[in-house]
Amino acid sequence: MNKLETLFKETYKVNPEFEYSAPSRINLIGEHIDYNGGMVLPAAISRYIKALVSKRNDNKICFKSTAFEGVLERNLDDLKYDAKYDWANYGFGIFQTLQDDGYKFKFGLNILITSNIPLGSGLSSSAAFLDLICFIASDIYNLNLTKDDIVKESVKTENVYCGLKCGIMDEAAIALGEENKCLYLNCNNFTYKKINLDLGNYKFVVLQTNKPRKLTESKYNERVDECNKALNILKNHYPSINNLCDLKPEMLNDIEKYLNDQILFKRVRHCITENDRVYQFVEALKIKDLNKISSLLKSSHDSLKNDYEVTGLHLDTITEEAIKAGAIASRMTGAGFGGCAIALVDEKIFDDFANKTSKAYEQKTGITPAIYMVDIVSGPKFERKL
Ligand code: GLA
Repeated sequence: MNKLETLFKETYKVNPEFEYSAPSRINLIGEHIDYNGGMVLPAAISRYIKALVSKRNDNKICFKSTAFEGVLERNLDDLKYDAKYDWANYGFGIFQTLQDDGYKFKFGLNILITSNIPLGSGLSSSAAFLDLICFIASDIYNLNLTKDDIVKESVKTENVYCGLKCGIMDEAAIALGEENKCLYLNCNNFTYKKINLDLGNYKFVVLQTNKPRKLTESKYNERVDECNKALNILKNHYPSINNLCDLKPEMLNDIEKYLNDQILFKRVRHCITENDRVYQFVEALKIKDLNKISSLLKSSHDSLKNDYEVTGLHLDTITEEAIKAGAIASRMTGAGFGGCAIALVDEKIFDDFANKTSKAYEQKTGITPAIYMVDIVSGPKFERKL
């Protein structure tokens, strides 16, 4: 028995029966526009959440995580959201959402979670957890959920049960992940294509700022509200639009006049230009135009810094230092306000790159970052029967 299996046995007094895993994600480009009906380009990466599971004879769902003390358990017929269940709400929420949608569960589960996805760091540890539990439920209770169903049930759980206004990008990136492919996702109508992500020696590297993130949720919701406010004003002038990303760069002069508010205008300018950059990025990727890829990632970061104002000292510093240390491109990824950035680096210089970036960042911020190369991988998996 390995350490995790032993912990399972100690916690639940029975042997684990099954092992499952789900990856995390980075977003290459298309930031903060999933909730504005835009195009995004995320990919699942080789940082994982794992679960050991066994069936129970009663109707209890029990969660234990190696990152937290204690076991959290609830009955399947009493899963109303309750803040005291903290992180486990995401897990309980999946069972509630599925039951609300008509699925029935005849027995409970023991679940032990472990993860090497940094928590709250912008690599979507929560979406990975939601997708994983939904995948497990589908497998163990034979619900036959498709990958698209897993995305929908997981997003519904985060939006309705947990009350977070996030878009569909993270859950989709993870559930639909495929080796060496990124997901070209239209967040307006949930259609997508998978695009080859082969850049030869150049690999994606995660730059984890390790800056504690406190305001992420409130600031995130503030941006969502600003976008909705701008959309309501602009609908009076462009009655056919449903989302900010329906607007085009050539309309920006008029939009500035209609909004008559510099903050709202900057938010809208980010959404429109970022959406346009995603189209350009996909074309650049097809012909492996590294110069174009690099300049689009830079403009994306600049727009998130100056117009959307979600970067901050730590993300700005680590991306600048990454370029100085030899990355051909770098930008923040995810919600921002700390968290992680990504860089595109020739794997032959990785060790030197990581050293230099780490030293310079630490000198400027007093924080040691974590820097690692990642593979682009496939979505949630049944790993083995124990
Ligand atoms: C978070 C949210 C996503 C998306 C990104 C920003 O990761 O969960 O839905 O909005 O921020 O692009």
